[in-house]
Amino acid sequence: MRPLLYAANWKMHLPPAEARAFAERFLALTSPVSGRSLWFFPPAVSLEGTAVALRGRPDIRVGAQDVHWEPKGAFTGATSVPLAAGAGAAGALVGHSERRHVFGETDAETGRKVQALLGAGLTALLCVGEKLDQREAGQTEAVCLRQLRAGLEGVTGGAWERVVIAYEPVWAIGTGRNATPEDAAQVHRAIQAELARLGAPGRRPVLYGGSVNAGNAAALTAQPEVDGVLVGGASLDVEGWAGIVGRG
Ligand code: PGA
Repeated sequence: MRPLLYAANWKMHLPPAEARAFAERFLALTSPVSGRSLWFFPPAVSLEGTAVALRGRPDIRVGAQDVHWEPKGAFTGATSVPLAAGAGAAGALVGHSERRHVFGETDAETGRKVQALLGAGLTALLCVGEKLDQREAGQTEAVCLRQLRAGLEGVTGGAWERVVIAYEPVWAIGTGRNATPEDAAQVHRAIQAELARLGAPGRRPVLYGGSVNAGNAAALTAQPEVDGVLVGGASLDVEGWAGIVGRG
């Protein structure tokens, strides 16, 4: 069976006690499925508790929602890669659209974050995606590939093994609107071609995100170009999330 990756982005939800309770219930509801791996991205304060609760499951990894590129120093409020790793993170999201468009994170900053993660041996899950006006102007691929090149500048050798991409059209995030599976597949093909041009030695997983739920996840992952899903809202309900990751 084709490997699939299911990632839960809890955003600014689930404080430590609720995150632990979610993890324990999730373990009770699910068992590993061959070829499927899972990532959970809890808020920073809930990272350690979630990682501890889930550590018995080799198919599950826990990551941070964002990291700073500097390893330490006077950066009030920020989480460095070593801090996240110390709390149990095996990787982090980078360049989520909310980081880019709510917090004003630049392409160059995403590149520094990716480098910090890969340099420390962690996984970088780089998010790319166009805004609605960019899609309507026919710029979808240009925007995504520009974000991809900036985020992955300087990646070489074995570090490619720790790169995962998520295509998340900004207009689809939290809106209930989806790219069609065919539209998503077309952008995923362009991303794979660009990854090859950038020197990725083999195929890297490219996930789709944006209003993925129990009703549309299977149709998206049925596309051979879609290697999994990155899920926000629908990952906050433990029964619903267990259903999504367990279904075909
Ligand atoms: P959503 O969020 O599933 O709630 O649209 C996805 C994401 O932002 O990663």
